[in-house]
Amino acid sequence: MLRAGAVALVLILAGHAGHAQTVAERGAYLFRAGGCFSCHTDVAHDGAALAGGRALATPFGTFYAPNITPDRETGIGAWSAADFRRALREGLSPSGAHYYPAFPYPSYTLMSDEDVAALWAYLTTLPAVRHANRPHDLTLPFRVRAAVGLWKFLFFRAGPFQPESGDSDEVSRGAYLVRALAHCGECHTPRNLLGGPDDDRFLAGTRDGPDGRSVPNITPHADTGIGGWSEGDIVQLLNSGLKPNFDNVQGSMAESVRHGLAYLSDDDLIAIARYLKAIPPIDNRIRRGP
Ligand code: HEC
Ligand code: HEC
Repeated sequence: MLRAGAVALVLILAGHAGHAQTVAERGAYLFRAGGCFSCHTDVAHDGAALAGGRALATPFGTFYAPNITPDRETGIGAWSAADFRRALREGLSPSGAHYYPAFPYPSYTLMSDEDVAALWAYLTTLPAVRHANRPHDLTLPFRVRAAVGLWKFLFFRAGPFQPESGDSDEVSRGAYLVRALAHCGECHTPRNLLGGPDDDRFLAGTRDGPDGRSVPNITPHADTGIGGWSEGDIVQLLNSGLKPNFDNVQGSMAESVRHGLAYLSDDDLIAIARYLKAIPPIDNRIRRGP
């Protein structure tokens, strides 16, 4: 059934674009840019790719990312393309339940319809792995999934992304990658007590990032951000994890680079660097000086 569905989809896409292969390949690239692998694969325990189970510690408890392989019983093999789009765009499950924003759909909502469809086309080509989801281990009141509806009312705005009118194509592309796909703000933007992003301090860093670790300020502030970095420095970091002082980035950033950002094209990395240079500098010291 799934195979038949995937074949039908590929044929439809082929009819559209003339090149079936290209759509799934484009999806593979978006999958890297989106960093889906890191959270949905339990690398530390040799888990199968995308079969879930990886623990994500947050101030609200521990989340276990679900299986997103095309297995019909334990993964998302029974989903339609529309179900997938609704999950990313609206943070809603096929049965209409709210997803926790530990799944970074508040960023993915900004993806274009075209990119969501390509990502789906790619995911359906992957091997199905049978692996049951582990329930999250959350503190009250966050255990109550319906409460996420209130969170969304306060903080969630559905996409897709709209470019700023004055921006060049390149800066707009960088903005799209940073805000939507690569979801940099999910880690680099500070949050309030309810876990909502503080949009006035977009990318200004936080002491309470993933796994309770600090995340640096990546606005172009000369003293407390990365204002002293050249575009080439930023590209090198995203491409290889190497900082201008030749240290390697650590923790969740190292994973983001290894499983995702390192696969991006030079053009896309340069677009990200240009955008990071164009946003307003924000004075926010996270760590002691160099
Ligand atoms: C920061 C970690 C993280 C990243 C990155 C991430 N996810 Fe997830 N994802 C989660 C968590 C946690 C959940 C479970 C949310 C819930 O239970 O409410 C989830 C849920 C999902 C679901 C719903 C599955 C189901 O069974 O209902 C889909 C589909 C999904 N993610 C796809 C993706 C795709 C595609 C990407 C990359 C574009 C991605 N995720 C990136 C953490 C992540
Ligand atoms: C999963 C969380 C996460 C995501 C997503 C993420 N980062 Fe990071 N980033 C970190 C952490 C944590 C560090 C600090 C790593 C360290 O201590 O070495 C960091 C460090 C950096 C640094 C080094 C800054 C410095 O002063 O040393 C840059 C630049 C950077 N990130 C840019 C980005 C960009 C651009 C994106 C999106 C394309 C991004 N990050 C996405 C968590 C993340």
